[in-house]
Amino acid sequence: MSKKQMLYVAKIKDGTVIDHITAGHAMNVAKILDIGEKSNAIITIAINVPSKDLGKKDMVKIEGRELNPEEVDKIALLAPHATINIIRNYEVKEKKEVRLPKIVKGIIKCANPACISNSNEPVQPLFYVESEEPLSVKCHYCSHIMEKQDILRQF
Ligand code: CTP
Ligand code: ZN
Repeated sequence: MSKKQMLYVAKIKDGTVIDHITAGHAMNVAKILDIGEKSNAIITIAINVPSKDLGKKDMVKIEGRELNPEEVDKIALLAPHATINIIRNYEVKEKKEVRLPKIVKGIIKCANPACISNSNEPVQPLFYVESEEPLSVKCHYCSHIMEKQDILRQF
């Protein structure tokens, strides 16, 4: 069978397909979506699937569910090339690429315990994206730099 003919995982009827996930990050995406032991959702995960543009990629398919904006922002941090496909009655009804903004507000915390954003002050965490791949973000308040591994620990 040629690569073109191969379909690694079955199509879904209704739900969301997160495609073009940076290879190796499917399980992290699953964690962001809180797909765990207690979840009843039907999920398909594909890891290291050959991809035209990326060489290889991961995919996560979730039936009967759409993602909220915070979940999409978290996925963008780990998988900046991911595509979110909304599926209805087997058809791709909507396709959007995740976007990693230059400034990340609220979704991650500063790893520096002395940072003002970790005090009792009402200060919302705020980071500048210094590099997308490899990921590196800098805290607005204390200039602490966090990389992918530091961020993964929070998800
Ligand atoms: N998909 C699915 N179930 C469906 C429809 C599509 O699981 N009922 C999956 C496809 O297998 C693919 C993704 O959703 O992984 C996007 O589908 P489609 O846009 O048809 O594929 P491509 O054209 O290859 O997407 P792109 O151009 O984004 O690479
Ligand atoms: Zn800080």
